[in-house]
Amino acid sequence: MALPITSKTPFDIGLGLEGTHVLVTGGCGLIGRVVVHAFLAAGCLVTIVDILDPSAAAVIFELDDRIGCYLQGSIANHAEVECAFGKAEKAFGPVHCCIALAGLDLSVLKPSESICDVDPEEWRRVFDVNINGTFLTCQRWLRGIRAANNDPYAAVLRNVSLVIMGSEAGAFGVRTMAAYAAGKSAVQYGLLLSLAKDVPRIYSNARVNAVAPGAVDTDRFKDESKQYGAQWRYEECEATVGLAKPVPPEHVARTILFLASERFSGSVHGQCIAVDSGKMGSVVWGKDELAERRRGGPGM
Ligand SMILES: NC(=O)c1ccc[n+]([C@@H]2O[C@H](COP(=O)([O-])OP(=O)(O)OC[C@H]3O[C@@H](n4cnc5c(N)ncnc54)[C@H](O)[C@@H]3O)[C@@H](O)[C@H]2O)c1
Repeated sequence: MALPITSKTPFDIGLGLEGTHVLVTGGCGLIGRVVVHAFLAAGCLVTIVDILDPSAAAVIFELDDRIGCYLQGSIANHAEVECAFGKAEKAFGPVHCCIALAGLDLSVLKPSESICDVDPEEWRRVFDVNINGTFLTCQRWLRGIRAANNDPYAAVLRNVSLVIMGSEAGAFGVRTMAAYAAGKSAVQYGLLLSLAKDVPRIYSNARVNAVAPGAVDTDRFKDESKQYGAQWRYEECEATVGLAKPVPPEHVARTILFLASERFSGSVHGQCIAVDSGKMGSVVWGKDELAERRRGGPGM
């Protein structure tokens, strides 16, 4: 028996993001630039905040020939975050949607053989950008939403959403990069869940979520995995995920667009979405190390 048709209105499958002001930190990076292109394609006004010099952003906006603005600054510096948001608001009005994506990625950090060898200064540096910088970004976005909500002359806010960039590392840990893993856990759990309780008190429809990608199939990842002694990185990524392949950057960008769209994800709040090809765990012992262990080598 056919189900009765309950509505004559056609189902609108557009994202409904047109005209939304989106600020993307780290928008010049390998994932960030794909995210920026995706928002531009969805008809958003996009502000990039990145520590890189403006030439990097000029290339991104030239390609798209759409409306965008670039502001140079470090998310770890309170005054620079304040200045970047202030300029972005002057250019395009309140930042409706903030993508807190900037960070020191695993691939730009120096691995340590063991947690015994971690340099406390390096630990602090990673936390300063990946936790403190993410916090400053989220805080300034929320303050902007509060100000816009209290402004009787401000236009109605739409797609009020914050997306924090986490990582599979925050769920599984990384033996040789504990600061990175600990920093991602902090933002994709503690910070996210605290914000999720607070954000709707500031603006009733405001939402906050995180995405936690697995290894993303960027050119850098491909190049790194080709280097002598590093092939295991690609192999690990294939062997430990259900789909047996790394994540295309477009899949991360599309998930972020979904989370930004009130029409699509208006009831998704406080979630950390794994975009990781179905990660099942991480390899703890490499083949050579296992052989060494069986032989009863040093430290065994
Ligand atoms: N590449 C991956 O496989 C992967 C997987 C999971 C999560 N992530 C996360 O995704 C995000 C982007 O990763 P990516 O691979 O594109 O790395 P990337 O290094 O290409 O991009 C990072 C961007 O952040 C910017 N940035 C760094 N420090 C900054 C600061 N203090 N202030 C402002 N901007 C700053 C960089 O200039 C760069 O443009 C990071 O948070 C990373 O941890 C990446």
